[in-house]
Order: sequence, then structure tokens, then C-alpha cells
Amino acid sequence: MKILVIHGPNLDLLGKRERDIYGDETIDAINADIRSKAESEGAEVECYQSNHEGDIVDIINRTEADGILINPAAYTHTSVAIHDALRAKPIPAVEVHLSNIHAREEFRHKSLIAPVVTGQVSGFGKRSYILGLDALIGTIRNAG
Ligand code: DQA
Repeated sequence: MKILVIHGPNLDLLGKRERDIYGDETIDAINADIRSKAESEGAEVECYQSNHEGDIVDIINRTEADGILINPAAYTHTSVAIHDALRAKPIPAVEVHLSNIHAREEFRHKSLIAPVVTGQVSGFGKRSYILGLDALIGTIRNAG
């Protein structure tokens, strides 16, 4: 089983950026945890980060993975293009957020991604990724 992990804009700054909201861990440390959880489940992960909407669309369109774990970051709230790419891709996807987007500014309450994914995990810090990965792997197994 292959999982594509996508981190959206500014997540390359994790560990330096608004640590009170997003925590102290770097993206590399989070990817290492994702990878070890995936390995323990017999899955392989490819981790990808981009600050560019079109690059994220391209990787969704081209991937041959069995499922997508995505933190679309700010594009969560704005991107019809990522919505359309996920909608067109016939594999399960799970949306994750480090912070609880529903408890923050009003503009973060709306996700354009939520209607086209299997589910959303929001507010558990880096555990959101691990919980989301667990849910994604279960979804892929149930579909197979
Ligand atoms: C985020 C929440 C978004 O609103 C924000 O733009 C981010 C990170 C999160 O993981 O909590 O960049 O997706």
C-alpha cells in the first residue's frame, strides 16, 4: 500500500512558525513519525511539501498512490483547484490540520476540501497526521 502525504504552504516553516499554534516539531520530524507509523502498518509513504497550488494539483493528478493524506494549510480555505483535483481522483483522501480550524478565525472555519475527502482530523497537533493516517489506511483496507 502506498500513501502520498501532502503538506501545503508554509508548513516548511513548522518548528519556527507560530509555535504556540503549530507546535515545536519540524516537518522532517513529523514526516519521520508518519513514516514509522506507516511502516508498522506495512504501508509506504511519499512525503511532499509545496507552497504552490498548481504543484499540489499536479502531484494529486499524477500520483499512483492508494490514498492521500493532506494538510492543505491556507489552501484549505481558498482552493477550488485542489478541491477539483481531489474530487477527480478515485482514491480515498483524509484532510488533517494541526490546529482546530473551527476554533480559530472565522475565515478558517470553511474548508473547500472537506466535501471531497473521506474525513477530516483537526486540532490534535502532530497527532492529527497519525490519526488521519490510521483512518486512511483503514479506509483503503476496507475498500480492497
Ligand atoms: C493549518 C490551518 C490553516 O488554517 C493554516 O492556514 C495553516 C495550517 C493547520 O494545520 O492547522 O497553514 O492547516
